[in-house]
Amino acid sequence: MGHVLGIDASTTATKAVLIAESGAVRGIGVSEYGFSVPRPLWSEQEPRLWWDGAVAAIRSVLDSTGVAGEDVAAIGLTGQMHGAVLLDRAGSVLRPAILWNDQRTGAECDAIRRAVGPERLISITGNDALTGFTAPKLVWVRDHEPDVWRRIAHVLLPKDYVRLRLTGEYALDKADGAGTLLFDLAARDWSAEVLAALEIDPAWMPPTFEGPEVTGLITGEAAAATGLRPGTPVVAGGGDQAANAVGVGAVAAGTVALSLGTSGVVFATTNRPLFEPRGRVHAFCHAVPGRWHMMSVMLSAAGSLRWFRDALAPGMEFADLVASAAEVPPGSDGLWFLPYLTGERSPHADPLARGAFVGLTLAHDRRHLTRAVLEGVAFGLRDGLDLMIGAGMPAPDQIRASGGGTASPLWRQILADVLGAEIATVNTSEGAAYGAGLLAAVGAAWHPSVEAACDALVSATSAAAPGPDAARYAEAHAVYRDLYPALAPSFRRM
Ligand code: XUL
Repeated sequence: MGHVLGIDASTTATKAVLIAESGAVRGIGVSEYGFSVPRPLWSEQEPRLWWDGAVAAIRSVLDSTGVAGEDVAAIGLTGQMHGAVLLDRAGSVLRPAILWNDQRTGAECDAIRRAVGPERLISITGNDALTGFTAPKLVWVRDHEPDVWRRIAHVLLPKDYVRLRLTGEYALDKADGAGTLLFDLAARDWSAEVLAALEIDPAWMPPTFEGPEVTGLITGEAAAATGLRPGTPVVAGGGDQAANAVGVGAVAAGTVALSLGTSGVVFATTNRPLFEPRGRVHAFCHAVPGRWHMMSVMLSAAGSLRWFRDALAPGMEFADLVASAAEVPPGSDGLWFLPYLTGERSPHADPLARGAFVGLTLAHDRRHLTRAVLEGVAFGLRDGLDLMIGAGMPAPDQIRASGGGTASPLWRQILADVLGAEIATVNTSEGAAYGAGLLAAVGAAWHPSVEAACDALVSATSAAAPGPDAARYAEAHAVYRDLYPALAPSFRRM
């Protein structure tokens, strides 16, 4: 029984990571799939893909490592947040799930603010209504698909559909629950007031659990499909951002994680339900019992660098491109980049925001443009961090960074200088799936708490400290902050 399994049902694949009691990753199984865009701005996925993906990924990791299902002590689940999975009384899927990156619900967000009251909504849930969240998707189905609405008996989030198929239980973790916009943030459970205002039947919503709590046991049928042992406990786990924070050890109040992938997420753990009064950053429950977190989400972070490389230096290695940016000084000789290539979520919840280079002169070449992209992403991340500090979070000394973008030492140094904190990488690399595995290890009683599991297994490997360029960047950031408000009216006209 010396292993746990972390399963991540993401937007592009389901991944199963097998972890030994020492914390070492023994193997990884992955099963990929796509999502559909039936209309512009829509994004949907069939729940069956997550289940088939989980079966394939679990079988693959057990086969490739030779570890028997009997040797798996517990399972933790994580996955893409916010998706609306609608089931009838028999647990059958009523329509494709509407995903976190679906943008159809602008009008429904306005309707939710009106129904609950804009300030009341933020004071209960910690959040403003955003198209990404689950509640607007439910309101959209209520108003556009009454036949589906009438038949709903259960609402789940994506990974919890996998849980249903593994255990037969309807259940949800608190971190993902808070991402629905239907939670009372302080009470860590469903808000009767918000549910009533949106005409959502509370009986549809499953019981909610803390990350390491056991929510059910592998059924005989699921065991036959996956090779796992019947009766293996499945813990609640957490939405992908909270589970990723566990995976990099950002679990104690005051610790901050940065994930620099296509999107850029700054994640700050708190021991109280702090939120930003205008809802410009997210405030959710953590996957750690009794902890909350604030989070800012930049939609195109390393995605900006990828776009830049593909558009202006196709085929070039990222390492070579970024190395050339080191040849020009901090501040890119007076050039700024706004990373809003796919609109923005935080701190400017604006689907119409656009990317921009500002300050171009004849003196600039590709090296300056590249450096401006690295700096612009760092400035946007700083905007999110500043809002969290303004909401009562202490300024961090260290930020634990993960994701493809952190491979670049130059980008790590720019981030340290701009964010004013040490940027540390960690000894774990499997992000959310690893975090879900650690939650399972706590559920299996291998560790007394999530903090203890992280202390034992996750450590910082290298760190970049803020250096002498920080003052120069502070001046450049002040200019950056003025650019979005100045350009926003033009973005709307465009
Ligand atoms: C978090 C969010 C994304 C999805 C993607 O708020 O929308 O991280 O969970 O998987």
